[in-house]
Amino acid sequence: MNKVQQHYDEVADIYDDRYDDHRGRSYHRHISDHVMSVLPKGGLLLDVGCGTGLFVERYIEEGGRAVGLDISPGMVRHGRRRCPESGFCVGTAEVLPFHDRTFDALASLLAFSYVPDPEAMLAESYRVLKPGGRIAICTLSRTVFTSIVPLIYHLGEMVGLKEVGVGDFDERYYTNEEIASLLEDAGFVDIEVSRCSFAHLKLTDPVFALARRVEPIIEEKLPYLAYNVCAAGKKPED
Ligand SMILES: C[S@@+](CC[C@H](N)C(=O)[O-])C[C@H]1O[C@@H](n2cnc3c(N)ncnc32)[C@H](O)[C@@H]1O
Repeated sequence: MNKVQQHYDEVADIYDDRYDDHRGRSYHRHISDHVMSVLPKGGLLLDVGCGTGLFVERYIEEGGRAVGLDISPGMVRHGRRRCPESGFCVGTAEVLPFHDRTFDALASLLAFSYVPDPEAMLAESYRVLKPGGRIAICTLSRTVFTSIVPLIYHLGEMVGLKEVGVGDFDERYYTNEEIASLLEDAGFVDIEVSRCSFAHLKLTDPVFALARRVEPIIEEKLPYLAYNVCAAGKKPED
């Protein structure tokens, strides 16, 4: 079994609880707001690496319809419970089980770093989008701050830490330029890259609250301190 899949199957219940409490919701809402702002509302969305269906739920709240795909059956089970009216399937981002030109929008939140073949995922994303369809990918960016994350995760795995996302998964983090060029090489146009997230979920309560307050200023004035990169683009019209 794929190591990432096994990990997310094991932590699926914890993940779902974490994002259901107030802080988890506000953290995820912030990222979802960012992604939502670059996608069309009211269309048909594919969420790749959908996890427990948080963004599928959000897209539906905004008047759209959505389908989720994830490598972990455990996460997908939660997604189905959260959004029973939506379709969910177990699968990998590099081989999307959908016809060409099916979706108006494609999103991937906090999952792109795990994908071993990002070019294949983007080629598949391009294929399943309709002409004019939009893509948005939000993932951990590569900065001086995040460069020690793999070491921390490696140590976490060595001591047997059971924490969401902690393990040696050969994750890849991208700079703004790298992710923009991946989208461009896949054929997307109108590419925009921004940075989001300063208040990390793992901060203690008062520090998290403070970080949330300054987050908009950081994102606007000091974006290199924000740790997620959000890249958006469009499949050209015919
Ligand atoms: C940190 S969770 C994010 C889940 C969800 N997008 C969210 O925002 O809550 C990462 C998810 O990516 C999924 N994932 C990792 N690699 C994948 C792949 N190659 N194809 C599809 N899903 C994948 C994992 O199973 C996990 O559910």
